[in-house]
This record gives sequence, C-alpha cells and structure tokens, in this order.
Amino acid sequence: MSQTGRFVVLEGGEGVGKSTHALLLTEWFTSLGLSFTCAREPGGTRLGEAVREVLLHHRDLDIPAESELLLMLAARAAFVRDVVRPALERGEIMLADRFEYSTFVYQGIGRGLGLERARELNAFATGGVRPDLVVVLDLSPERAAARRVGRREDRIEGEGQAFLARIHEGYRTVAARDDHAVLVDADGTPEEVQTRIRQILKDRLPEPFGSTEG
Ligand SMILES: Nc1ncnc2c1ncn2[C@@H]1O[C@H](COP(=O)(O)OP(=O)(O)OP(=O)(O)O)[C@@H](O)[C@H]1O
Ligand SMILES: [Mg+2]
Repeated sequence: MSQTGRFVVLEGGEGVGKSTHALLLTEWFTSLGLSFTCAREPGGTRLGEAVREVLLHHRDLDIPAESELLLMLAARAAFVRDVVRPALERGEIMLADRFEYSTFVYQGIGRGLGLERARELNAFATGGVRPDLVVVLDLSPERAAARRVGRREDRIEGEGQAFLARIHEGYRTVAARDDHAVLVDADGTPEEVQTRIRQILKDRLPEPFGSTEG
C-alpha cells in the first residue's frame, strides 16, 4: 500500500502532554501499519539537538530574544531539509513534537518580537513547508504546572506564570486563525485525550486515517 506524505504537528505550552501523545500516536501508526518519522523540535538533527542544549539547558546564558528566535530557526532549517522533506518524499507521516507555532507563540507573542516578523523569518527557514495539521493541546497553565511537578525546569519554563499565561493565550489566538489547526481539550486522562486526537486525525486527514478502525 502506498501512502501519501502527511505532516502532523503537536503543539501547546509546557507540560500539556505533547511528548506523551507523540508516543501514543506512533503506537497507533504502528498498529495501523503506517510508516512514520517522529522527532522533536528544537532537535531532530545533530545541529538541532546542539541548539536545543544551548537554548534550554544553559541557564547561565543571557540570550536576547532576537537570538533565541534566530537559533530556533537555524535549527528548523536543518530539520526541514534533513528530516521533514525526506520523510514526506518517502510518503511517510511526519510527526513533530513542536514546529512553527512554537516560534509564533513563544518568540513572536511571548517574547514580544511580533507575530508577523516570526512568520516571515520562519517562512525563510522552512522554504514554505507547512504542516497539514497542527494539533494544539489546550490546558490551563495551572493544570500544566501540576503535571510538571518534580521535573527540572528548563530556561524557558523558568520564565514564570505571566509568561506561561501569554503562551497559553497565544496558542489559542494563532490556532483560531488557521484552517490547518485544531484546538484539543488536553484535560482528562492520557487515554481520553489520545482518543480525541485520533478522532481529529481521522476527521481531518481521511487519507490515511479516515478509513481505519480503532
Ligand atoms: N492527560 C494527562 N493527565 C495527567 N498527566 C499527564 C497527561 N498527559 C501527560 N501527563 C503527564 O504530564 C507530564 C507532562 O507531559 P509531557 O511531557 O508529555 O508534556 P510536554 O507537552 O511534552 O511537555 P514539555 O513542554 O515539557 O516537553 C508528564 O509527566 C506526563 O506523564
Ligand atoms: Mg515534551
């Protein structure tokens, strides 16, 4: 059976469940016999993982917002060239844990660099490759914080509640204006939320998910 390449992205604030649901989705894809590539951003390439380390784990670095944006995009250009495009050309499902929405929301809105500027620079980095579907996990910053208890905070998570509230609102704003985005209620058990996400994939991408059982 030949597959059409599909680019699906999981987005949302800190601790909403992106990585949990990425893993559960790959289990579903496997059970359906679908080929896929799954990667996180920033990351997914050696350059991307190096940039991730600088951006998230060097809390001693004083990183200007402009540098943060450009570093994210530097990683993204490699991610698109080396991971996303090849996966789509092979006809796979490309599942990404964060992509351009994170830049729009964290750097454009959260850091105040402007949504339009974030979009323009992002388009330069991606060469115009866009997701077929963006699943935005929506959870209040308070509930998300409760899920992260006991985990070590990275540089961005350490920004505090006002920043995280701006991120939460930012995702809603950006998703509301985009036909390719769906906001999902991320409250409930992982199983409940995963069922919602699978239903959205079936509804929005009938090829290859629509005709499947389970
Ligand atoms: N529906 C859920 N109910 C309760 N806990 C959950 C649920 N989904 C995920 N969790 C737990 O919440 C924590 C955060 O989830 P996860 O790491 O998947 O979030 P994330 O969005 O990838 O976070 P980050 O932004 O830090 O990468 C984990 O400990 C996970 O086990
Ligand atoms: Mg994660």
